[in-house]
Amino acid sequence: MRFVDFIEQKKQGGTHNRGDLEGFVASYITGELPDYQVAAWLMAVCFQGMGASETADLTRAMAHSGDVLDLSRLPYTIDKHSTGGVGDKTSLVLAPLLAACGATVAKMSGRGLGDTGGTVDKLESIPDFQAELSEKAFYAQAERVGRVVTGQTKDLAPADGLLYALRDATATVGSLPLIAASIMSKKLAGGAQTIVLDVKVGGGAFMRTPDEARALAGTMLDIGARAGKEVRAILSGMFEPLGWAVGNALEVTEAVRCLQGRGPDDLLSLCLTLAGTGLRAAELSASRETLEGALASSHAYEKLEAWIAAQGGDARALGRLETAPGHHLLRAERESLVASLDALALGQAVMVLGGGRAQKGDAVDPGVGLVLYAKVGDPVRAGDPLLTLYHRGKGLEDAHRLVGGAVVTSKARTEPPPLVLERL
Ligand code: URA
Repeated sequence: MRFVDFIEQKKQGGTHNRGDLEGFVASYITGELPDYQVAAWLMAVCFQGMGASETADLTRAMAHSGDVLDLSRLPYTIDKHSTGGVGDKTSLVLAPLLAACGATVAKMSGRGLGDTGGTVDKLESIPDFQAELSEKAFYAQAERVGRVVTGQTKDLAPADGLLYALRDATATVGSLPLIAASIMSKKLAGGAQTIVLDVKVGGGAFMRTPDEARALAGTMLDIGARAGKEVRAILSGMFEPLGWAVGNALEVTEAVRCLQGRGPDDLLSLCLTLAGTGLRAAELSASRETLEGALASSHAYEKLEAWIAAQGGDARALGRLETAPGHHLLRAERESLVASLDALALGQAVMVLGGGRAQKGDAVDPGVGLVLYAKVGDPVRAGDPLLTLYHRGKGLEDAHRLVGGAVVTSKARTEPPPLVLERL
C-alpha cells in the first residue's frame, strides 16, 4: 500500500492490517518514509484512535524493529514498568526482593526525562556502578547473579525511539494506543515472561485520572496477552511523592533503608504489592510472610549488595552516598496539618537544582534533591521542618519558590491519598 493511502485509511477511521503496519515500521526505520508523512499519520491516529488488534500489531512490529532479548533460559523472569512518578524508587527495592523470592530480574531501564527520574540515573549515583553493559555481559550477569539492570540500548525497539521523538515534536504524544504501543514494544523486546505494570495516577503522573490510567492499563494488558505474556497491572496514586526522598542518591539511600526494614510505609507497601503481584503471576510463592521474611532476614538486602558489586559498584558505599553540601530547610509557619504535597512541583524543584534532565542527553547531578519530613495528613507545629533541599546553589531560588507553593497546610484534616487504587 502506498503510504499516502495508509494515512488516508486512518484519516477515514479505517483499520490497518498487520502486513501494512509491519511495512510501515520497516520503511520508517530504514529512513524510506519521511517524517512529514509519518507525522500526518500520527495525527490521524490521535483523532481516530486504533483498535485492539491493530494496536497489538503495531506494538509487535515496533518490538521486532531491533533486538528482542532471549531470556528463555532463565528461570521466572519478571520485568516491571512504572509509567513514572516523583520519588519512585520501587525498581531498586523490587529487583532484589523478587530475586530473594526466586525470580530473575534482567531488564533494560530508561534514563529520566523531566520531573521524574530514571532507575539508571539513580543507580549511577553509586560509585563505580556500570550502567552500560554489552549484550554479552548482560546475559552473563543475568545467568550468574539473577539481577541485572542496564541502560536501554538504541537497538532495543529502535522504531519507538524514532516515533517518540517525532511524537514529541508534533504534539502527538498523548494518544492512548501510541503510548501503550511505545511502552509495551520495549517490554516485549525486553524478553521477560512476566510483566508487572505500575500505572500511576495523579498530579505527579502522566495519567491524571483513574479512568485514563485504567484505559491505558487495559490496552497494555491486552497487548501483553496477545503476545503470550503474563501481564498484571496496578493503578497506584501519585498524589504526593512516593516515600520521603526525591533525587538520585537520596532515593538510593531510601531504597536501601526499605530493604533493611527502615523504609517509609508507602514505599514498602507499594513494593510488597508489586512484588506479590509479579511473583503470583510467575507462579512463585508470594505470601506476605515470604516477602516480609526476605526483608527481615536481610536476604533481599544481600541480593542488592551482590547485584551492585556484580556491576562494579561499591556496595559498601550504599548507606552513605554523597549528597550536595548545601541544605535549605523549609519550616511550617503555624500549627496545622499537611493538606497536599504537589508531586509535580516537587519533582520540578529537584530538576531545577540539577537532579533531572530538561533535554535528552543533559547531565544530572546525583547529589541534589529533597527530603520530606511530613506527608499528607501529618500534623505539624509552628517551626517544624517540612522538607530540606539538598543543593549546590544552582537553581535554589526557583526550587525554593516551587517547594513553597507545593506544600499546602490547613487547619482541617485531610485523609492521606490512596496508594493502591486498583488491581487489574
Ligand atoms: N512512556 C513511554 O515509554 N512512551 C510513551 O509514549 C509515554 C510514556
